[in-house]
Amino acid sequence: MATRIGTKLIALGSLLMAIHSASSNEGLYASASHGAEVFANRCSLCHGSDAMGGGLLSLTIADYPATNLLTPKYATDLDSLREAIFWGGSDGRMSHLSPPWGNELTCVELESVVLFVQEIRKNVKSGLTLLGAVASEQQPSMKLGRLVYDSRCQLCHGASGHGDGKLAKVIKDPPPFDLTQSTVPTAYLQRIIGEGGAAVGRSVKMPPWKDELSEAEFSSVIAYIKALRE
Ligand code: HEC
Ligand code: HEC
Repeated sequence: MATRIGTKLIALGSLLMAIHSASSNEGLYASASHGAEVFANRCSLCHGSDAMGGGLLSLTIADYPATNLLTPKYATDLDSLREAIFWGGSDGRMSHLSPPWGNELTCVELESVVLFVQEIRKNVKSGLTLLGAVASEQQPSMKLGRLVYDSRCQLCHGASGHGDGKLAKVIKDPPPFDLTQSTVPTAYLQRIIGEGGAAVGRSVKMPPWKDELSEAEFSSVIAYIKALRE
């Protein structure tokens, strides 16, 4: 069943790509460089900013499965990669901690991130160069802030900042802060977000982000969470 729908998806992906090529809109082609952008925004929380595991989430949760994409257990070729990313753990093969991306990504995004993972496995240096380019091309914006928030902060702080993300069920004493009630100044935000809770005498469950985010991502997420205040 998984395989059959996966195959249909692949056919749909190629069809869409053919249409996009015909309309000569370059931004809509699947490519490893677009995939690096998808990866940085959606996958690095668990797979690490270099795809070699050690994402902040995997380091925060005890006994988290290995997430180094350079040493695959399940997905070794293009087809199995596409399926693993589409279904995640939802078809029961991989851990349920691996999210399914089939409904979250467009076909071009899915195909692009598949190409990116394949590229960084084939040639680590070239994959890291693609990721570096993503970081250096970013401009600070509310849109970028929202992307960072949704992919890195929402799991704990909740979709609109009320401290009610999925992980709030396991992180208590103190729970993830209700960011709509935050009153601290920007300098403090920079410090707790950059260096983590422990650096300012608060909970270690608030991770340090400075090595995970580009400069543009860092300033954008700060602007974004300030806009969440009520
Ligand atoms: C919330 C955490 C999380 C996020 C976000 C996440 N993954 Fe994963 N992923 C996992 C875990 C955990 C596993 C390992 C599952 C296992 O070992 O059973 C995994 C496994 C995989 C595998 C299979 C690796 C292998 O061993 O063959 C691929 C490929 C993969 N992820 C790609 C992605 C891509 C691409 C994205 C972003 C679009 C992504 N993941 C986002 C947690 C995550
Ligand atoms: C693994 C869960 C987790 C993630 C992910 C997380 N946080 Fe937190 N955060 C916490 C916890 C727990 C606290 C409360 C710390 C305390 O009160 O000691 C906190 C506190 C904060 C505070 C302090 C607010 C105040 O007014 O004192 C800010 C700001 C913050 N987080 C921003 C972020 C941002 C931005 C991100 C994403 C880049 C993020 N957090 C991701 C768990 C998390």
